Amino acid sequence: MHTTEHIQGIVEQVLKEEKWDINPHGLYDPIAYVLGLGGKRIRPVLLLMSTNLFTEDIEEGINPSIGIEVFHNFTLLHDDIMDKAPVRRKKPTVHIKWNENTAILSGDAMLIKAYQYMSDLPEKKLAKCLEVFSQTALEVCEGQQYDMDFEKRDNVNADEYLEMIRLKTAVLLAGSLQIGAIIGGAKEKDAKLLYNFGINIGLAFQLKDDLLDVYGDPENFGKQVGGDILNNKKTYLLINALNNASDKKKKNLKEWISKKQFKASEKIEAITNIYNETGVKNLCEKKMNDYFNTAISCLNKVSVEPNRKIILNDIANQLMNREV
Ligand code: IPE
Ligand code: IPE
Ligand code: MG
Ligand code: MG
Ligand code: MG
Repeated sequence: MHTTEHIQGIVEQVLKEEKWDINPHGLYDPIAYVLGLGGKRIRPVLLLMSTNLFTEDIEEGINPSIGIEVFHNFTLLHDDIMDKAPVRRKKPTVHIKWNENTAILSGDAMLIKAYQYMSDLPEKKLAKCLEVFSQTALEVCEGQQYDMDFEKRDNVNADEYLEMIRLKTAVLLAGSLQIGAIIGGAKEKDAKLLYNFGINIGLAFQLKDDLLDVYGDPENFGKQVGGDILNNKKTYLLINALNNASDKKKKNLKEWISKKQFKASEKIEAITNIYNETGVKNLCEKKMNDYFNTAISCLNKVSVEPNRKIILNDIANQLMNREV
């Protein structure tokens, strides 16, 4: 078995080896910038850990895992335009440091690079992995569209939200695990179980992301705290606050949501206060823990020695307890 540190080291090294210092610099510099800012690298790590469940030789998984990370970073460039996000990984976002057109085109180039990395596979596994990857990538776009549609609606329910985050976030973790399993030579049943492990971890992961967006420590979080509130994102917190708050607070919440002119810090403070008063943080944490437990029960069913699954179990745990 490879250790978590070893797998993370492989991912970092391959990312560092790619030469982005080429013309036109306007296209490639932002790519080097965003990939150089780090990040948890959770998706490539999950892919390689999944491969490693079934085989010691994880070499074939390396470039596809980089493809997943480059794809993820591409989605961030476009997501940060869509979410008007000023900061990512403690640094200015690409559309702020350069401009929106740059973030669009460098993002496009990253999507293409992602496919090149993903395609570096033996012929026997190529078609299946590309099929999973393409379907996953399309679903991420679907999720991002729902996320934007929901900003403009005030009657989004919890089921709609959960389906939206399944698409925008969970499928990419799940797809990484499934592709890793295919590369490792897993039986179809095990690859499916790992996919479902990924869906449930991914749902919990996005619930945690939404919690951190409100309650994260501004020093550590690396993104703008309160960004979801400013964008009227229909998170689990907001949906439950709209359902559970007293009539007076509900009215107040709706006023803030429809307000056109306001001071950002005042809106964030007011809505955070309503969240605190309605106890929605607990509800969100409970939902997150439910998905985590479902995820672990999927992992437990995968037909390999229990001791081979410990690091996936550990990393899933760390994702629930993270500050970034
Ligand atoms: C951010 O992903 C986007 C979401 C799906 C919440 P990560 O939290 O994995 O971001 P990095 O790559 O570690 O910065
Ligand atoms: C991001 O969701 C999902 C994708 C990038 C596809 P968020 O918009 O919540 O991610 P952050 O918080 O900006 O990282
Ligand atoms: Mg977004
Ligand atoms: Mg965002
Ligand atoms: Mg977020």
